[in-house]
Amino acid sequence: MWLRNCWQVIAFAREIGQTPLARTVCGEAIVLFRTQSGKAAALADRCPHRFAPLSLGRVNGEQIQCGYHGMCFDAEGQCLRVPGQDTVPRQAKVQSYPLVERHSFAWIWLGDAALADPAKIPDVHWCDHPAWAVSDGYHHFGANYQLVNDNLLDLSHESFVHEDTIGNEAVAEAPFTVNLDGDRVRMHRDMYDMEAPPFYKRTTGFTGRIDRWHTNTFSPPGLHIIENGSMPAGTTDRSAALERKVLNFITPETPTTTHYFWAIVRQFRIDDRELTDYIRDGITKTFDQDKAVLEAQQRIIGSDPDRAVFPVSIRVDAAPIQGRKLLAAMIAREAGSPAPARG
Ligand code: FES
Ligand SMILES: [Fe+2]
Repeated sequence: MWLRNCWQVIAFAREIGQTPLARTVCGEAIVLFRTQSGKAAALADRCPHRFAPLSLGRVNGEQIQCGYHGMCFDAEGQCLRVPGQDTVPRQAKVQSYPLVERHSFAWIWLGDAALADPAKIPDVHWCDHPAWAVSDGYHHFGANYQLVNDNLLDLSHESFVHEDTIGNEAVAEAPFTVNLDGDRVRMHRDMYDMEAPPFYKRTTGFTGRIDRWHTNTFSPPGLHIIENGSMPAGTTDRSAALERKVLNFITPETPTTTHYFWAIVRQFRIDDRELTDYIRDGITKTFDQDKAVLEAQQRIIGSDPDRAVFPVSIRVDAAPIQGRKLLAAMIAREAGSPAPARG
């Protein structure tokens, strides 16, 4: 069900402090904390003594102390102290996870720790680079993460779910292409001479008709980098375009819930705080609209799990289908079983 040998966003780095933070990823309960020296750590959120969650404890210096009987563990999960006795039981160890802070996010590796190479962390340097302005946020979706991947790989839904923000009917009508490139799926759509959707008018200042495009590059299990651009219709000089990237980090929580971290980065009017806030608020509203649809979808799927889930496919499903096939192949490869055929 889940890819484990990969880096996934578990938190914004700024969320990790000296107050322990409980967060579940792929069904695993994890506690995040920052030691006094500033090291961010991720441990299984279960004390090996009587299974109290360590997230109910507190950070003391370089250790986290269980809030029940006070056993202390270092950032690697080794127990260093047991109140009331001089010795530490040999089994008193908590599983630790590789955790790296990069580009304003905390990335966790749930799989084989020997394979956790930080060089494989996706490059999203725009999120903490001074040449880029960032509007970011978090949504919790009561839906399986693959429904969120489907949603992002088929942006035709902008026409129907987001017609008061980023979409209008021109999006769903425009042709698009889908390409498989190694372990990535790329979906691209050009939209010519369309009316600017409300959010575009405000964020770009292009109030007349526009040419617009978006490209989503999906890297399983849940990274979607959407490159968006627009310019007045008929403009031939691409330097007149205003572009932004919509970075979507989709991390499974449970089979029916998902963490959705996002950031919109831009290089125009980067000092305009009002614009940064407007984009954040507009995207929050936009993703609230997705949340309502996907949670309703999940409720219907969950009410009848034995039924073939999607009996009908239409043209716009090309990228979601490709994305699901690629993810299934990568999960099978990781499990050491023959990969399902890619179509
Ligand atoms: S449950 Fe943690 S010390 Fe007892
Ligand atoms: Fe959406």
